[in-house]
Amino acid sequence: MTHPRILVIGVTGAGQGSVPVAYLDQILTADVLVGGSRQLDYFPEARGERLTLTCGIGAAADRLRAAQAAGQRAVVLASGDPLCYGIGSSLRRFFAAEELLFVPAPTAYQLAFAALGEAWHDAALLSAHNRPLDTVVAGVRTAPKAAILTDDRQTPAVIAQALLEAGLDPTTRCAVCENLGDAEQQRVVMTTLTELLEQTFAPLNVLVVWNSLPPDASVSPPTSEDTDAE
Ligand SMILES: C[S@@+](CC[C@H](N)C(=O)[O-])C[C@H]1O[C@@H](n2cnc3c(N)ncnc32)[C@H](O)[C@@H]1O
Repeated sequence: MTHPRILVIGVTGAGQGSVPVAYLDQILTADVLVGGSRQLDYFPEARGERLTLTCGIGAAADRLRAAQAAGQRAVVLASGDPLCYGIGSSLRRFFAAEELLFVPAPTAYQLAFAALGEAWHDAALLSAHNRPLDTVVAGVRTAPKAAILTDDRQTPAVIAQALLEAGLDPTTRCAVCENLGDAEQQRVVMTTLTELLEQTFAPLNVLVVWNSLPPDASVSPPTSEDTDAE
């Protein structure tokens, strides 16, 4: 018997509106729906069993494997692009590529640069989400601009402090892009590194920093490997 592929689909702050119509019905009628609580909340009318990722990626993978074996249709909801600092790489530890069908939404990086009206092909794409800041600090030096995913501990203020300690100019231009994709809550704040120290933001944000130092050729660009489950 051929097992159905597990649909791993990205959602932005626009919620259901960010999902292609062709896939919406698959989410609403899935037998098993796995995701972070924010993503699950976007689909209150979904009929299937719901599993929040707080159970851990191992338990979620076990449930997905059992669903697959039983011929049930399983869907995993991700934030943005599942394969960009997302649950996609965690799932690949448990499933072969052929067992998964990835449907990405725009990443938070793309939405941040779109909100700023700035090109991003020359940006360093970094994450402080659940990871040490030294990679972020080194990464900022590799490119003319950097976009940094944050979390509730590594906030824009904490990251700004680390960048100042690494020698960036206090007047370095920055932007914090909050709640991207949400038509009512999205907000962009233009600021500087030193001003960031005193500012607080919505929990969901991306920090963009325009590098004020000459690029450091001794630092390798960071990789984009990730195992985060939101
Ligand atoms: C684990 S990463 C997931 C990234 C995701 N896979 C992507 O492609 O954007 C979670 C971080 O992405 C950023 N993020 C995700 N959604 C966001 C949104 N709607 N607005 C602002 N930042 C967001 C935040 O920094 C958040 O802590």
